[in-house]
Amino acid sequence: MKSAIATALLYCCLHLGASAQKNTGSHADIIPLPKSIRATGSDYTLSPNTKIYYEAGLRPQAELLAEVLSPATGFDLQVLPYKSEQTSGIVLTLDKTFAPDKEGYRMSVSSAGIRISAGASAGVFYGTQTLLQLLPVEIYSKTRQRNVNWKVKGADIQDTPQYAFRGMMLDVARYFFSKEYVLHFIDMMAMYKLNTLHLHLTDDAGWRLEIKKYPKLTSIGAWRGTGAERTGGYYTQEDIKEMVAYAAKHNVDIIPEIELPAHALASIAAYPYLCCTGEQYEVQTQHSISKEIYCAGKESTFDFLADVFKETFALFPSKYIHIGGDEANYERWKACPSCQKRKNELGLKEEKQLQVYFNQRVQEMVGKYGKTIVGWDEIIEDGLKQKVAGMIWNDPKKALKAVENGHYAIMTLTSHSYYDVAESVTPGEIKAATWLKPISLEKAYTLDPMLPGLDIKYRPQILGASAALWSDQFIHGTVLQELAPINENRSEKYFDYLTLPRMASLAEVTWTPKAQQSWTGFEQRMRRHYNRYDRAGYGYRVPEPGVSDTTRQNGSYRITLSNPVAGSEIRYTTDGSRPNVYSALYTGPVSVDKPENFSAITVVNRSQYSLPLLLNR
Ligand code: ACM
Ligand code: ZN
Repeated sequence: MKSAIATALLYCCLHLGASAQKNTGSHADIIPLPKSIRATGSDYTLSPNTKIYYEAGLRPQAELLAEVLSPATGFDLQVLPYKSEQTSGIVLTLDKTFAPDKEGYRMSVSSAGIRISAGASAGVFYGTQTLLQLLPVEIYSKTRQRNVNWKVKGADIQDTPQYAFRGMMLDVARYFFSKEYVLHFIDMMAMYKLNTLHLHLTDDAGWRLEIKKYPKLTSIGAWRGTGAERTGGYYTQEDIKEMVAYAAKHNVDIIPEIELPAHALASIAAYPYLCCTGEQYEVQTQHSISKEIYCAGKESTFDFLADVFKETFALFPSKYIHIGGDEANYERWKACPSCQKRKNELGLKEEKQLQVYFNQRVQEMVGKYGKTIVGWDEIIEDGLKQKVAGMIWNDPKKALKAVENGHYAIMTLTSHSYYDVAESVTPGEIKAATWLKPISLEKAYTLDPMLPGLDIKYRPQILGASAALWSDQFIHGTVLQELAPINENRSEKYFDYLTLPRMASLAEVTWTPKAQQSWTGFEQRMRRHYNRYDRAGYGYRVPEPGVSDTTRQNGSYRITLSNPVAGSEIRYTTDGSRPNVYSALYTGPVSVDKPENFSAITVVNRSQYSLPLLLNR
């Protein structure tokens, strides 16, 4: 490790930047940071008599706002149609001058009232999310909070996102997330103005989507293991309708992923004719990538997929369909008479081209429904007839290839956005995928969807970014780790801890203009976001204390810490032992002989605290 002292000095300098940020006013904790924000000094206070007015078409947004304000305030706010020149209360209006921008909004808060205007309901919804962040953090509570002054800080805000695609992927195939968790996940995304939920619905270890024409996909493909180890589940078509409607209300588009030709063993276990050998296999119970993939030679494979897409598109209105396309092992295709016949008839040289053919066939099928294909970066090959969106995960060069060939790119980089990877290697860190280097919050914040080397002329083809929450490390009977600070072992909440706070950084790097992004400013604004998570009941990784200064004085080191979570304590030790919630309370700079003997934790409460800050180790 680099000298901790050097690191500490760096922190010290960065922190000066942070305090400068603080002076930008009392609104500085909005995430993602709006494009422009001006404090007016004229605050509005919500009362039981506040009325919410909506212009035609915005009633759902008005009702949703009344609904989210209700639990914490206890107010049952009236929702009424807007009459022209209404100035009091909360007014939601449409403004044609925003066209074609659907997600931007303008908001003004003064003692007289709050006005949110936008070109479409999406922008109005984002205005209401900003409004929540201008209110005291208690607004996120699910129960009534008494003695809170529901003051909305006076501001004029103009805002619009930088990227159209701001997404999260949830791997519901390897670990079956309940419908309730998916809805909760949408809530977390909506808080940060993320607009796309990519559901990885099918894989070797599970098929999660009810397809009426192929009932075995879920009676067989949705379950794995035997006896007490049997686990699984699936979404009925009614569940999907509910999820899609809930998402739409929160301006979230759900993109279904039907993986092909690989990562498909669950469906092959249900219908063995789909693979080259036709043999019976079991749904995978261990994490590895099956070499049994869909046969590219038999027409019955394409008939099956056409049927599956037909039912899928009746459920998901998204203009996108994700077809996977990653990590296909061609061993079976090489040995399969049908696949080889197809390859020879088409004059193809290698199996990789057979996958391009496969993708073209799928493109024809889904094109009839007006859908655009999204796929992992392996699908970016020559020969695709229509435009696709490459989800760049493994090979950043594929981003360039995509845009040079007229396609689109979405960054889901293993280096920045695989949230199933832990934030650190500190002992006691949450159990997570280990095949990649840790992705700290700070690292996640350095994501720039315009990758180095991409010419600015390609900017319109860079749709945005998405982070992936894979769950393959939990295939084995969901062995989630015992972690005292988390205390949520074996529950879905565990995934909140992998997601937050990194999802907040994703929001900012896809929404906020690059020139306004600042790690120290973000870190500073995050302090109150942890409080919001607490109020909302969201799990999150508690950050370690920051080192704002380390100076050498007469042979000892004077360490000054910064507290990363508003309202929390820092506890520390100086004897090399691991601090706990009863260790000495940090109240000011501490002197130690050796930095390696010093350690500190952030304590939110007795059961919620950070991993130790370790210096020089
Ligand atoms: C992937 O991680 N295989 C897309
Ligand atoms: Zn075959």
